[in-house]
Amino acid sequence: MVETVQPALALNGTISLPPDKSISHRSVLFASLADGASTVHNYSSAADPESTVSCMRQLGVRIDKDDDNLVVHGVGRNGLKTPEDPLDCGNSGTTMRLLSGIVAGAGIESTLIGDESLSARTMKRIIDPLRSMGAVIEAADNEFAPIKIKPHSGIKPMRYPLPIASAQLKSCVLLAGLFGESDTEVVEQVPSRDHTERLLGLRSEPYGQGKIISSSRLDKLPTQSYTIPGDFSAAAFWMVGAAIHDESALVLENVGMNPSRTAALHILQQMGALIDITNERMQGREPVADIAIRSSELKSININPALIPNCIDELPILMVALCFADGRSSITGAEELRHKETDRLSAMYNILSAAGADVDLRPDGIIITGDPDFTPKAAEFESHHDHRMAMAAAILSSVSEEPSTILDAECTSISYPQFWTHLQRVSQ
Ligand code: S3P
Repeated sequence: MVETVQPALALNGTISLPPDKSISHRSVLFASLADGASTVHNYSSAADPESTVSCMRQLGVRIDKDDDNLVVHGVGRNGLKTPEDPLDCGNSGTTMRLLSGIVAGAGIESTLIGDESLSARTMKRIIDPLRSMGAVIEAADNEFAPIKIKPHSGIKPMRYPLPIASAQLKSCVLLAGLFGESDTEVVEQVPSRDHTERLLGLRSEPYGQGKIISSSRLDKLPTQSYTIPGDFSAAAFWMVGAAIHDESALVLENVGMNPSRTAALHILQQMGALIDITNERMQGREPVADIAIRSSELKSININPALIPNCIDELPILMVALCFADGRSSITGAEELRHKETDRLSAMYNILSAAGADVDLRPDGIIITGDPDFTPKAAEFESHHDHRMAMAAAILSSVSEEPSTILDAECTSISYPQFWTHLQRVSQ
């Protein structure tokens, strides 16, 4: 599908965000491992979380769905069944990496497959530690899906210093650790999102600059009532949208505010964005709040490499913000962006260049010289079937003077099926 984005003079209104994708996946995975029924309220209907539900059903977990509410009838750590068909993770890296930890830990004979984009993403980062823990795994070129997991003689606990700051890798190893007789210890020096530790209530203690998180068979996995907050990563598109448009104000309700996810908000505030946070509260184990953001005069910034894991999914839309900031900004230490649904560094460089922005691509980042009066050239933008590229290009295009088109725009359904409707509704 090709979507035409009309220029907007302003963005105004209130947006109810899609449910958080990372927490949605985890709620179903963790509820499946508990003994008994858990409820999940406000489950995401986006394609990625749907992939997780269908994989868990294939593994013998009954999941009842009523609108956006689920009842997950957990089967316990030892109750998963051998699936008859390959487990299709679709486009979802989180499904493939976290589920690999579970099925490899349990030693369930299964094959995990994905779409073209997911099959081109390296899984070596999870295969290596899982093999060290005793899992038996085959993969295409030893690195890519299909990932074949075979029964084994038991999980060997280990101490694992994370070689990259990745919540998917951390979660994969900790989930496999839940099947070991004694502690698997993951050493994390650079923090990444902590939903897994939080929602499972895993033990963690300070270690050097970071922490050690432990899991073992002895950790109890109680049934829970999960309520999924609005997705901060989706909120970031509207925060930038309101900030770069004149005469704009958007209110985002019930946004997940987990501190391991909100660096983009602090970066925008440092850039001078006018943001009000109200109604801060806890929803289950996750903090949430409402965010109001207005048209802002943005200053340039150098984004600190240590913050990259905390804003990895927001970097594409932050790059759009940098085009409107006064002066030279830089993003460094973001090589990981090249390993997402597409090479997001190159894809964003192409999108911003096509719009006439002053950008310079680096192996691990980008330099952007912004201008508060920047008017993006209308263009035909490639999304590369990547939801975050399509949404970043759309927000950028809404500031143009002529309509632009976004190719393969249906990919927004991966995380935000209502995005195009919401954009039309708030555009004036
Ligand atoms: C995610 C972790 C991040 C993020 C992805 C979701 C998660 O990936 O980019 O969209 O839910 O754990 P990495 O852990 O590979 O950086």
